[in-house]
Amino acid sequence: MLPVRPLALRAIFRSLVLGSLGVPLVACGGQVGGDHVGNDGGNDTKESPKDADVPDACVTSPISSTAGPCDVIVEYYACAVPGVHTGVSIPGATCTSLCGFDSGYVNCYATNAESDPHVVLHCTTCVTGRRPAGYVLEVGDGSQELGAVFARIAELEAASIDAFAILERELVLHGAPTALVASARRSRREEIQHARAMRRVAKRFGGSPRIPKVAPRPPRDLRALALDNAIEGCIREAFGALVATHQAMTAKDETIRVEMARIAEDETRHAAFSLALAAWLDGVMDDSARAEVDAARRRALTELEREVDAPVAPALVALAGFPDRAASLRLFTGLREALLAS
Ligand SMILES: [Fe+2]
Ligand SMILES: [Fe+2]
Repeated sequence: MLPVRPLALRAIFRSLVLGSLGVPLVACGGQVGGDHVGNDGGNDTKESPKDADVPDACVTSPISSTAGPCDVIVEYYACAVPGVHTGVSIPGATCTSLCGFDSGYVNCYATNAESDPHVVLHCTTCVTGRRPAGYVLEVGDGSQELGAVFARIAELEAASIDAFAILERELVLHGAPTALVASARRSRREEIQHARAMRRVAKRFGGSPRIPKVAPRPPRDLRALALDNAIEGCIREAFGALVATHQAMTAKDETIRVEMARIAEDETRHAAFSLALAAWLDGVMDDSARAEVDAARRRALTELEREVDAPVAPALVALAGFPDRAASLRLFTGLREALLAS
């Protein structure tokens, strides 16, 4: 069970990170790490049959997939996704399905011509911070350049400011304990600092952070709030805190290491807040809402595992301290075990 006390949670996160550094993970009948992820810097792209003919029977599953920390590029045969091509706006629900995510926060665009037998979809997501409801994630190009990655992280940190502002208003509306309201307020202030720090880092590496777009939404009921908190707070923000802790402990770039140390401490407190909020919500919801939240939590864990099972560029690992693919999977496994035991 994960504790809601920030200091205790911090100790657990630090021990998970220490455990992720060089300890082989055996999972799913095989070893994760070692040779098959030793080329983490390369784009672990399956061979694309660009020159091959489209098969007689339309293949509906992706024919190639390249994943990065914030972007996933997926290729389909055009016959599997008719009408999706350059210049066509793709609805969010279609993106989520085609990009292979369960979350409703994925955005995508296609870069093929109408006559091309292949559809290349650029999908965007990222495990940083708490994404607000109504967040419109701008598409990226799959780049793993330091500037581009930190620019996306800066955008997500800025989006977290909105997330906590919205959450604070909703908690007041639902009569939540004042300690939870105060934690949301404090978290919002900290996210302002995070966004500024990540903007500085992004600009240093030539990145151009964008201002997040968040569409206005009416206040959510307790069930919707609990679903969002379970996914964005207890899972994604907690994993973000683990990644930040890893960066604070391993980044070779001193500025990044120092900035991530402060962010890791704050993000761990945000994760502890999410756990405390989940406990309060659990106590005020009925059985059916609790079951729905639990099912959503399990789906979100499955989705996150897919997201972190991706190659990471060597510069991101060495200079910026991001966990490589094997370390990410170890961190994820540790977090999942702790969360499911709670
Ligand atoms: Fe943050
Ligand atoms: Fe946060």
